[in-house]
Amino acid sequence: MATSTTPDAALDPLPILKGLASLRKFGGMYPAGHPAIAHKLAEIERVLQRHLEAHPVIRIDIIHGEAHLDGLSFRHTDAADLRVAHELSELGIDSLHISRGITPEEVLALAALLRELKEGPGPVPMERQLADRGIRHVTLGKLVAIDTRWRADSWDEAPAEIYDPDYAESIELMQSTFDHVQDGGELDLDTVRHVVDLLIRKVAGSSAALAQILAVKLYENLTYCHSVNVATLSLLIARQVGFDERTTAALAEAALLHDIGKTRIPLDVIRKPGALDKRERAMMEGHTTYGAEILVEVEGLRPLTPTVALEHHRGLQADGYPELGDRVPHLFSQLVSVADIYEAITGARTYQPPRQPEQACLVLARLAGGKLNAALVKAFVAAVTFFPVGSVVRTSHDEIGVVLETSAAEPLHPVIALATSDGGRLPGRIDTATRDAGGAYVRHILQTVAPGEIRVGEFVNP
Ligand SMILES: [Fe+2]
Ligand SMILES: [Fe+2]
Repeated sequence: MATSTTPDAALDPLPILKGLASLRKFGGMYPAGHPAIAHKLAEIERVLQRHLEAHPVIRIDIIHGEAHLDGLSFRHTDAADLRVAHELSELGIDSLHISRGITPEEVLALAALLRELKEGPGPVPMERQLADRGIRHVTLGKLVAIDTRWRADSWDEAPAEIYDPDYAESIELMQSTFDHVQDGGELDLDTVRHVVDLLIRKVAGSSAALAQILAVKLYENLTYCHSVNVATLSLLIARQVGFDERTTAALAEAALLHDIGKTRIPLDVIRKPGALDKRERAMMEGHTTYGAEILVEVEGLRPLTPTVALEHHRGLQADGYPELGDRVPHLFSQLVSVADIYEAITGARTYQPPRQPEQACLVLARLAGGKLNAALVKAFVAAVTFFPVGSVVRTSHDEIGVVLETSAAEPLHPVIALATSDGGRLPGRIDTATRDAGGAYVRHILQTVAPGEIRVGEFVNP
């Protein structure tokens, strides 16, 4: 459970829900303008502003009675905490988005609306109800309904085009390996070793592959791609922290197989848009123990491989799942967790579109010290940088370019190539770390942008 001393506590959406619940109740008990209401309102305002300073939109989803902020779960064991999230779900609301600019009047009107919803949803669509009350910075919805509406089959199963042949081979081999295990076959150790070798020798050092692994991934990230990506990202951390060859190989194997337990979970549960029910959720969480079970049976694997499968959803403070008592996860598991979360955030999911690397790095930074090992997050962000190879970026000269090279010395000023108006590559390279005579940078990277028409492959292919 998050406490006020952990960095990620600031991100916990529960105080917002609790504040709204209290305000809803107070509104029914006290007359408008009563000091108790004003006091509660001021309290919520403070929490909201703290969140909104960091993010333009607060996205709270209630999935299985737990509050998720931007897709991340904040587990609460306290019965009162759980009740607050349940209450909202019972009103028919699984999804509450609050955007910057919300006024105290809107918060009060929202609490009043929630109070009325208790009497039943009524025939008026939610959007109208919000608009009628002047609530312009809030959307409310059913998670499942929203998800199925905007997602449907919008994501392909794998990247449409793979730039690096070794990366392509790794994905292909892992797909057939996982398919075989799914069909009840044995894990093919030779293939696993071959892929580990490919990832270490080739993929982790290939700009073309990293461009696809680090950037936003516009495909439904199924287990085989995800596994190759997480293993490659884990290698970047291993290199940054200076693991030796043996340790690196053991880590890559564990990372590659961390989610193998998902082969025992029906695909429709893995791909299900929207919230999972209690049974499906338990099934999904079971991929950790299933994974460990599968892997301990395989002779010839390295000893930590089943451990990582078991522990990769456990947090530093012995939170997460499965329940394993007070045991702190092994360093390998901690490391794979960092890569796993980055991969999840930058990948398309049934319930949310992918997010840009810099946003993913910020989420990791906020989880550092709480759920995640801060030193490993630091190593990861240093290796990846906010604008990784292959990112499409906008410069302070209003140019669009693609990152070709990053450096630890100048993490915010990569080497880029500029794009032509039709999305191709202009000849030449620009080092954005270049300074003018006065020592000021000539260019800054302002932000990562969606690739759109930019043919990133043309930029990063050797
Ligand atoms: Fe997992
Ligand atoms: Fe994973």
